This record gives sequence, C-alpha cells and structure tokens, in this order.
Amino acid sequence: TELYAVFGNPIVQSKSPYIHGEFAKQTLQDISYQAIQPPVDQFESTLRTFIKQGAKGANVTAPFKQQAYALCDELSELAQLAGAVNTLTFTDDGKIHGDNTDGVGLVNDLEAQFGLLKDKHVLLIGAGGAARGCILPILQHQVAQLVICNRTHEKAQQLQNVFSDYGNIFAKPIEDLLSPFDLVINSTSAGLTGQLISLPSVIVDKTTDCYDMTYSQHTTVFNQWAKDQKAHKTADGLGMLVGQAAKSFSLWRGVTPNTSPVMEKLRSSLA
Ligand code: ATR
Repeated sequence: TELYAVFGNPIVQSKSPYIHGEFAKQTLQDISYQAIQPPVDQFESTLRTFIKQGAKGANVTAPFKQQAYALCDELSELAQLAGAVNTLTFTDDGKIHGDNTDGVGLVNDLEAQFGLLKDKHVLLIGAGGAARGCILPILQHQVAQLVICNRTHEKAQQLQNVFSDYGNIFAKPIEDLLSPFDLVINSTSAGLTGQLISLPSVIVDKTTDCYDMTYSQHTTVFNQWAKDQKAHKTADGLGMLVGQAAKSFSLWRGVTPNTSPVMEKLRSSLA
C-alpha cells in the first residue's frame, strides 16, 4: 500500500480522501489517502515527517499552497508560473517535485461543460491564488482573448505582466467592461461568505456561459446572478475539484481515472 495525503488547515471539509479513494477502487490501485491538518505554522515539519514515513505524494490546499511551492526541489512550468503548488511527488532520490493541477482541472471541466475554449472571449474575475493557477492552461487553449478584472485593479495588472508572453491577456477595470463575453469565470472567494461581487450586467447575454470555481449544494450566488442575466449555461466548481484530483492521481499513478461517476456520487452526497 502506497501512502498519500491532503494537507490543509482546516481539512475536515476536504473531499479529496473520498475522491482519491474512489479513483483507487476504480483503477485497482493499492493506495491509502489520508487528510492531515498541520498547525498553520508547522506545514513543512509535518510534511517532512510524512515523507519519512515512506509517503509517495501529497495534495496541498489552503493555506499552504505557496509554502508548498517554496519548499519544492523541482517545479513544473505551470507550478512555477502559478507560484503555488497543489500536488507534491516525493521522488525515489529524495526530491520534492511540485505541480499545479488546478488549472488543468478547470480547463477540462470548462470544455466538458461548454465545449472548446479555442477562439472564445473569456473574462476571469478575481486575481488571487485561484485565478493565478488557471491562467496558463486557459491561454494554452488558444482563447481569442483573456480579460482579467479584479476589485483591486493593480493585482489584475500584475497578472497581465506575468502572463503576457503566453497569450492575449488584458487587465481591465470593472467599469471598462462594456460588452458580453463567451465565457465568464468567477475565481473570487466572495461567494464563500455568501457575498455577491458587483458586476455590470452587460458582460452576460444569452450566449454567455458562466462558471463559478466555488461549488455548493444549491446554485452558487454568482451562478444565480448569471441565471438572472439569462446566461446560456452555468456550472459550478465541483468538476474542477474532481478534475484537479484526477490530474494529480494520473501524475502519481500513471493511470487517468474516469471522473464522471465520482462527480455524480459527490453531487448526490451534497444534496
Ligand atoms: P484565492 O486563493 O481563493 O484566490 P485570494 O488569493 O485571497 O484567494 O483572492 C481572493 C480573490 O477574491 C481576490 O481577487 C479578491 O479581490 P481583491 O484582490 O480586491 O481582494 C476577491 N474577492 C474576495 N471578496 C470579494 C468581494 N466581496 N468582491 C469582489 N472581489 C472579492
């Protein structure tokens, strides 16, 4: 049995042990996957103890993704640019390798829900860690344009500077958004506390698909707003969650699990 875990604080809410357990059953992999909650100031020491126990890998969630990034011996290009790591692999020669699978999880779910990203005009709302991890995978899918807007405009401008070599990316102040997009993605944490971000209704018309990276049992606050604007389709972040896990699992185990049955079970367990 090979050992894996997810590290976060808090961690009780994490669906990762369940998801990886389902993937392991489905693909007949002999793994154990735990949930570990280090004290906020003891992430690294707790992780190193876990590695000494012979562990093969770990997922990292809030608030440790940046710390995980900082302690890696090697980083994938995606993790490097994201400045955050959600997937660690402990190599046989004692190195810690860091990846970020959040963006791939997002992009796979976006294409599953709404069709190909190629040539779409995409608006990304928010410029925090969640946004940053997803920009490169979106640009790599040859979108026509990726506009980033954020309550604090300077942070959107910083992301434009970091990623401008990789595609058509523009930071725009919210008040400069004057026409509809093909796809609007909410990456802000506002919905987690039930807050609605203030956005001009002109960004959504009946052709616009809307995606909320957060998820909940009921329609999220952002998706409800999108529906009120008569958006074409809406989806929440459950598929992204399962998708990032699937990408981690395949990096570790070399097999790609089927995400649909796991999503269906999770969705019904939320209800
Ligand atoms: P995460 O890792 O989830 O992205 P974060 O790095 O703290 O978390 O970023 C939170 C994002 O949500 C930011 O873009 C933040 O906007 P600011 O940069 O202006 O703070 C955004 N956000 C949170 N609450 C918001 C609200 N009520 N209205 C608009 N944006 C909000």
